Parts: sequence; C-alpha cells; structure tokens
Amino acid sequence: MDMVRNALDRRRGGTHYTDRMQRILGVCQDCGLLWHEERVTHRNGQWEMRRIDDIEPVGEVHVTPQYEKYGLTVRPRVLNRVKNLGPHFAYALNVPNTSVEVDGNVVYVRVPRPGAEHDPMVTFEQAWEIAPDIPPGSVLLGVDEEHQQLVLDLTAPSSVHAAVIGMTGSGKSTLMRTMVLSAQMVGGSQVALFDPSGGLEPVSGHPSVWRGGIFCRAEDCELGLEALASNIGRQRRGLMFVTVDEVPDLVALRPRIRDHLSRLAQAGRHAGLHLIVGAQHPLASELGSSTLRNIAVRLVGRVADPGAAYNATGRRDSGAESLRGRGDFIVVNGSTVRHFQAACPSVEMLRHWARRYPPRPPRMPVRPSGMGANRHGGGGRGLDEIPDGVVKEIRRFAAENGEAPSLNWVYRMTRERLPTGGFGRDKAQRAIDAAMEDKGS
Ligand SMILES: Nc1ncnc2c1ncn2[C@@H]1O[C@H](COP(=O)(O)OP(=O)(O)O)[C@@H](O)[C@H]1O
Ligand SMILES: [Mg+2]
Repeated sequence: MDMVRNALDRRRGGTHYTDRMQRILGVCQDCGLLWHEERVTHRNGQWEMRRIDDIEPVGEVHVTPQYEKYGLTVRPRVLNRVKNLGPHFAYALNVPNTSVEVDGNVVYVRVPRPGAEHDPMVTFEQAWEIAPDIPPGSVLLGVDEEHQQLVLDLTAPSSVHAAVIGMTGSGKSTLMRTMVLSAQMVGGSQVALFDPSGGLEPVSGHPSVWRGGIFCRAEDCELGLEALASNIGRQRRGLMFVTVDEVPDLVALRPRIRDHLSRLAQAGRHAGLHLIVGAQHPLASELGSSTLRNIAVRLVGRVADPGAAYNATGRRDSGAESLRGRGDFIVVNGSTVRHFQAACPSVEMLRHWARRYPPRPPRMPVRPSGMGANRHGGGGRGLDEIPDGVVKEIRRFAAENGEAPSLNWVYRMTRERLPTGGFGRDKAQRAIDAAMEDKGS
C-alpha cells in the first residue's frame, strides 16, 4: 500500500486520490481478489507458499471535468469478478455509481466527480487553443481523457457522416454548434443548417452558411434538403457539412425528409457532402437501416439505459448508459470507443460571433417550376406570385451581366412592368432566388 501512496502522491501531491485508490483496493481485498497464494516447488523438492498479486494499481489517476479514473492491472483469473464490483466501489467511495471499464489488461474504475455539475466545463476556446491548426474537413469535438484536443476528420473514408445521439440535456445541440463553429473558424467549407430547436442560430449568420441562414420550420427544412439532394452532382462544390438537428421530429412532420437524407448520405464523400445529424434516439425507424449504416460515427451522450446505449452505439460494452449529460460523450467508430467532454462555446464567444455575423432568415429554394408546386401552393408563403416574365427578365440580366441583379433593379423592373407595383426586398430576393435556382444550378 505504501507503494501506491508514493506513486500517486508523486503525481498528484494530494491524499484524495490515494485514499480513493486504497478504498478501491480495499474492496478487492474484501472480496478476496487482491492476491492469492501459490505453492512453489523447488528443484530440491522443497516447497514454499508464495503470494501472487492479482490486482495492482496503475499508479496514475486521470482527472477530467466530470470524472476521476483509477487504473488497475488485473490478472485474467479475477477479471470477470472485478468487472462486477461497480456498486461495491461506489459504496466504498460514497458516490452514486461507478463504472468499470476494461481496456486491454488495465481495468479503469470511473468515478463521477462531486460538484462537477457546477464546475465550468471545457470551453470551445480552451479546446481550440490546444491546437488551433485544425485542417478543413475536420471539426472540433472537445477534449479527451488525456486532455488532448479531439477532432473528427469527416473526410476520412471511415467517418464520412456522424450522428449525435442522446437524451434531452445530454448536450447534442451544444456539440453540433461546436462542430459548426469550428468549421467556420477553420474555413474552406460550407455549412447547411437545419434545426427546429434553434440551437444553431448563433452560428447561422456566417458567410459559410448555405443560403445565408438556418432552416427552422419542418416544411422549410424539407424544401432545403430537397434542393440539396436534387443538386447532387449538378453543381461543383467543395466541402459541405449538412447539419440537421432533431431528425426524428423532422421526419415525423415531413416524411420525405427521410428520402432526402438518404440521398445525401449515399452521395457522401464523392460529392463532398458530410451529414451531421442529431437525434434523441437512434434513427433506424426514421432513417432506415441502410442510411444509418452510412453514418459510421456515433457521438453518444447520456442515454436512458443499457438498451438505449446498445441501440445508439451498436455495441454491448460502450458504457454509454453511465454517461452523465452536459457534454459527457463517447465517440464510437468501428471498434474504437473514446470518451470526451464536448467543448462548449462561452456565452461571450457566441455573442461576439452573432454580433459579427448577425443571423438572418435563409433564402428559400423554390421547387422547380412546371411541377405546379409554386402555382397553387398558397400556404401563406407566397411562392406562387412571381410571374414568369419577372423570372425571365432576371435571367436575361444575369446572362448579360454574369451576375444576379440587385434588389433595387428588381424593384424598378417590376414597378415598370407589373400593374401591381414593384416588389419589396423579400419578394425581390425570392424572385432572384427562383430565377437563379432554376438556371440549372
Ligand atoms: N459541453 C457542455 N458543457 C457544459 N454544459 C453543457 C454542455 N453541453 C450542454 N450543456 C448544458 O446542458 C444543457 C442542454 O444542452 P443541449 O445542447 O441543449 O442538449 P440537447 O440538445 O441534447 O437537449 C445546456 O443548456 C447546457 O447548460
Ligand atoms: Mg437539442
């Protein structure tokens, strides 16, 4: 035991961790797992009993914003019994629960930190600072348990799309906002934002945002996703992160969103399209299993129980059921599982970003004309009232000048041509969008 104390004290300089490690070893000892005696026979026929240690402390405690992690090297003969000691460790340490994780021949006892609820977690700024040279195509997630910056490279073939899954309050929207914000700071990519919950609003005014704003209402999201899906391959674009929060709600309200997401997921890497979808539960019923298979990366936060953990991660041993919420996540990709604390932009940073890039409503795409969609829609959005003549005029201007006309130009042109008078700003913009959209872009 003295060895334990010394090893830990050298690293941490405090008795808290030493004390806890000793309680953990105490539990193992009470259960008769710490060591056993073996009879050793010597060549000359004499024998003696020798004590063999089955469990030894690794002598290093990992401390993260939400956890302390105690490592033990455990011999295989007692491994299974140690795995079941979680409740005993919790009792001995006087904490609500612990989880026991196996990583090779090291077993980690993960202990939630008291008071973490109120501590500041990892801010975006702190995580960014660790290595501010994130390449385009990668997005910031947060900080892992070795205090390293964790980024997700969505351009890697094994991680083209990502799903963020967890209960309300697990920190999904916060994490998605961090990913989008980092993409904007890195540059070199576009982001398309679909989010009925409004969590992505503070990052929706940046010039990288497709169509200049966030799509919130389900019917608008459907329109936007349809436009993206039907433009696959027709338009040369670089990298684009298509970020969709609350996917189950959206699909329930507008079932065709399912098809659009499926097409986007299939197009994937070759089209430079990367989906980041958020959901309170795994999406098999909403998205279909083949789309889900295309979404290889799972960022899983707090879930209700082991069943939900299995559904979210596709694995039995992810430990997701003991995640604590508020940015406590694991990233699951293939056979790897990694724990991390999601970075959360500070209030000041978001305010600064939103002031510099004020959020605006998006320019709505218009369904290709000829399908009648614009003619008898009604629907209060008035997409039907842009006369073909106006669209033609705008296209003529664009063809001659190589760019779309100004809103003022549309106003003057419509004032001259239409008995009903000139278009206001919104309608002029819609007319421009309609004209440019149909032009085969
Ligand atoms: N990474 C984080 N760090 C600290 N607090 C967080 C973090 N993520 C979420 N929270 C807290 O949890 C609350 C819910 O987060 P949110 O992202 O809206 O969760 P969800 O979208 O999963 O419902 C936030 O208001 C915030 O107080
Ligand atoms: Mg949310």
